[in-house]
Amino acid sequence: MALPNKPLGELPAVVDPEIEEREVDILFIGGGMANCGAAIEVKKWAPNAKILLVDKAAMERSGAVAQGLSAINTYLGENKIEDYVRMVRNDLMGIVREDLIYDVGRHVDDSVHLFEEWGLPVWKQAGDEDKPLAEGGKPVRSGKWQIMINGESYKPIVAEAAKAALGMDNIMERVFIVKILLDANKPNTIAGAVGFSTRENKVYVIKCKTMLVACGGAVNVFRPRSTGEGMGRAWYPVWNAGSTHTMAMQVGAELTMMENRFVPARFKDGYGPVGAWFLLFKCKAVNALGEDYMVRNKDMLKQYEPYGSAPVTPTCLRNHLMLHEIKSGRGPIYMNTVDGMAKLFEGKDKKEKRHLEAEAWEDFLDMTVGQAGLWAGMSIAPEETNSELMPTEPYLLGSHSGCSGIWVSGPEDIGPSEWSWGYNRMTTVNGLFTAGDGVGASGHKFSSGSHAEGRIAAKSMAKYIRDNADFAPSLKSSAKELADEIYAPVKLFHEFKDLSTALDINPNYIKPKGLLMRLVKITDEYGGGCSTNYITSGKLLDRAMELLEMLREDSQKMAAGDLHELMRAWENYHRIWTVEAHLRHIMFREESRYPGFYYRSDFDLIDDENWKCFVNSKYDPETGKWDVFKKEYKQIIPA
Ligand code: FAD
Ligand code: ADX
Repeated sequence: MALPNKPLGELPAVVDPEIEEREVDILFIGGGMANCGAAIEVKKWAPNAKILLVDKAAMERSGAVAQGLSAINTYLGENKIEDYVRMVRNDLMGIVREDLIYDVGRHVDDSVHLFEEWGLPVWKQAGDEDKPLAEGGKPVRSGKWQIMINGESYKPIVAEAAKAALGMDNIMERVFIVKILLDANKPNTIAGAVGFSTRENKVYVIKCKTMLVACGGAVNVFRPRSTGEGMGRAWYPVWNAGSTHTMAMQVGAELTMMENRFVPARFKDGYGPVGAWFLLFKCKAVNALGEDYMVRNKDMLKQYEPYGSAPVTPTCLRNHLMLHEIKSGRGPIYMNTVDGMAKLFEGKDKKEKRHLEAEAWEDFLDMTVGQAGLWAGMSIAPEETNSELMPTEPYLLGSHSGCSGIWVSGPEDIGPSEWSWGYNRMTTVNGLFTAGDGVGASGHKFSSGSHAEGRIAAKSMAKYIRDNADFAPSLKSSAKELADEIYAPVKLFHEFKDLSTALDINPNYIKPKGLLMRLVKITDEYGGGCSTNYITSGKLLDRAMELLEMLREDSQKMAAGDLHELMRAWENYHRIWTVEAHLRHIMFREESRYPGFYYRSDFDLIDDENWKCFVNSKYDPETGKWDVFKKEYKQIIPA
């Protein structure tokens, strides 16, 4: 059931929330692209199953696609699946799960065809305007893999289909899931999840046989470039705070490539996307002298063979060359929109030029409205003024140009047998599935691939509940114990709030905002954030871990006076775990696999001989111990 927006002001939290218990067969956590895909697929394979989808926000505008998008970045069309795998492999510096990527490649176009059928306007080549993609209509491609859309309403369209498939009685919005629960009797098997409403003082304890956790990646884990008021403006959506990785690792799911991160180069301060400017409008990024630094610095790529010489330079290496310019005193960096648009205008009449200008603005209006606002506020017309570009703070995610995430079972027909343990996209914990940003070592899925991956997972979840029809989940803790744990920050607030005159400053507690500042200061200064130009080292990481340990202790003193703060507190807990996994992985991998995303100054090289392998890790919920280890990489698609 969708709850209405709250009235003005935050809703005070009470010490004893109401508790509601539920039991379903299949639980979808998150209402983003992956779970919208799962929602439309699941009924085909499990028509009689009891299903529940829970989103911390409102599905119509939740997740990374909330503002809309102007391109679908993965549509294979006439391309070969093998070439898609090759492109992803090279962009992610050689270490990916090719079985998972191939699997997305063979299913992704079906998702895009559905989007169009549901009403998403896809740009078509002249003459094909009325011909759907599914019937051979030719899209306008911005790049080899990307197609242009009028995508402001992309998420409402996709969410509407998901809601219609499940029925609103089987959907709970504005409920934040805090943790996944293991079964009391069956080892390494999930039995449910627990969360709370951000609109009512209510805790939900939900039992299930299987669940798909797809809560996106992690934002605000590093100090953002924007400060103060602007901190709410980040590239990655502010909703996704590492819940997927954290909840899965806490129950013992194996992680992979958590050392990877994504640092997108973006229009400075507004975080506007660059893809369409590079690929569709054919603009060049230049240094302050007006030089194309990709050409000027091309010899720098030789150090990173074979990855550097590929037709598309990997995303991290593009950053690497950009950072070199800034460090060499040739910044700021600009997107040369002036020359780019002048070239596009050549031979065009007035009407066609107006159309192109509109497309340039629409690229932002469709997906990053704030950037259009910034242009307007700074009197920028892209055909007259170039705009600054800048690499952002790091984010952790697995579906865009990054690949941190969870180690999952792959399709049985592509990879080696040890990569497939029965249920496609199931983690190493029985019954726990993931998709989209949650799946590690398999980036470049984007919106369409995440949707397709949700569909893939839903189908195997249906098989899982058929195979485990007798399983009756039972929880280790009582509903009251779980509710007390979730509401602990509220209890702390009520206990001490009257001991100081300012609610935010108190010797007995710390508010979530203060704790977040402390966390991002640690990661920024020691973990390779913006302030050190993404540089870290073994010793810096040791120090980061010490400080993190102290922060962890203090985090038990987080206090929340209202439901919004309670959510902020739990987001912080999720961030801390995600950060810990990230730092542990960077520490373990003694090389700099992703120059431009991060550098280890003590191992500033790519060492294929020793490190052309996955780095995986596992937290043991029984002992509280971490294990970080190498896992063999296997190439499936030949070069
Ligand atoms: P999301 O779609 O982000 O969904 C996560 C969901 O989890 C949300 O509903 C959120 O509310 C919910 N959630 C989070 N935490 C909790 C919790 N604790 N409890 C309950 N619910 C929770 N792709 C393209 O194809 N083209 C583009 O142009 C493009 N541009 C992008 C621009 C940006 C800024 C970003 C960040 C991504 C872009 N992508 C693009 C990629 C695409 O948006 C993602 O690949 C896709 O959304 C990932 O799907 P997901 O389901 O994993 O995560
Ligand atoms: S978006 O998600 O906000 O649209 P972005 O604008 O970076 O991301 O990229 C969109 C698509 O264009 C992605 O598939 C990305 O890999 C690709 N892309 C972006 N810049 C370049 C570039 N300079 N060269 C090649 N591909 C690029």
